[in-house]
Amino acid sequence: MARRKLVYEGKAKILYEGPEPGTLVQYFKDDATAFNAEKKDVIDGKGVLNNRLSEFFMTGLQRIGIPTHFIKRLNMREQLIRQVEIVPLEVIVRNFAAGTMAKRLGMEEGTQLPRPVVEFSYKDDSLGDPLVPEEYIVALGWASQQDLEDIIAMALRVNDFLAGVMHGVGIKLVDFKIEIGRVYDGEFPRLIVADEISPDSCRLWDIETNEKLDKDVFRRDLGSLSDAYTEVARRLGVLPQNNAPSGKPTLVN
Ligand code: TYD
Repeated sequence: MARRKLVYEGKAKILYEGPEPGTLVQYFKDDATAFNAEKKDVIDGKGVLNNRLSEFFMTGLQRIGIPTHFIKRLNMREQLIRQVEIVPLEVIVRNFAAGTMAKRLGMEEGTQLPRPVVEFSYKDDSLGDPLVPEEYIVALGWASQQDLEDIIAMALRVNDFLAGVMHGVGIKLVDFKIEIGRVYDGEFPRLIVADEISPDSCRLWDIETNEKLDKDVFRRDLGSLSDAYTEVARRLGVLPQNNAPSGKPTLVN
């Protein structure tokens, strides 16, 4: 088979040209990075788990009428996706204070917010993804006012879905990040959920113990990241129930 053309290589994923125009193949690597890639490691099996978990969340969103870029999973590490024009924003939804919000405002991590809040960071690693006010986004032309309203509404729907699914398996959705893509159906631009949804881009805490089951395990050296992600996948039924959390990922077909 001819070698596929590489379109983009990021920290955790690679995009290749897809089999048809308007499609891409998204490959999930085992690389983990934090603090703007100052901390790096390779976590055996992370890419396999995130490929399955992102498929699980994206197909769930589609079933409740939220469009995403996901088309189908191709194999252990790859999925076919729609090519999109990425809106250069990290869209963050928070239900509990943690991470930069807790730090910035001096709040205790885990404090429940009176309602979910949506915030935006400008996607630029060299600047450290700075928080940006909505007014900048419109003024600088990254999204129109209407797009912004649609993105907020979509992010809150994603939050309700993810928080509900997680609650069902005893996990608190503290916060998460999504990226939004623009696709064109003829002349008409449409916004869809893109990139990935996985424990790399969420904060997930056990409801009973507050044990962290997300990338903070890696950021803060709290134990085995692969065990944490395997536990999330196991609870969601993406892995067989009898799969020991410490075992290597065993995949259900
Ligand atoms: P945040 O608390 O702002 O930053 P940090 O993770 O550096 O403490 O992150 C909120 C949530 O969004 C958290 O679950 C991580 C996720 N996120 C990403 O996945 N990528 C990003 O570039 C940013 C800014 C956040």
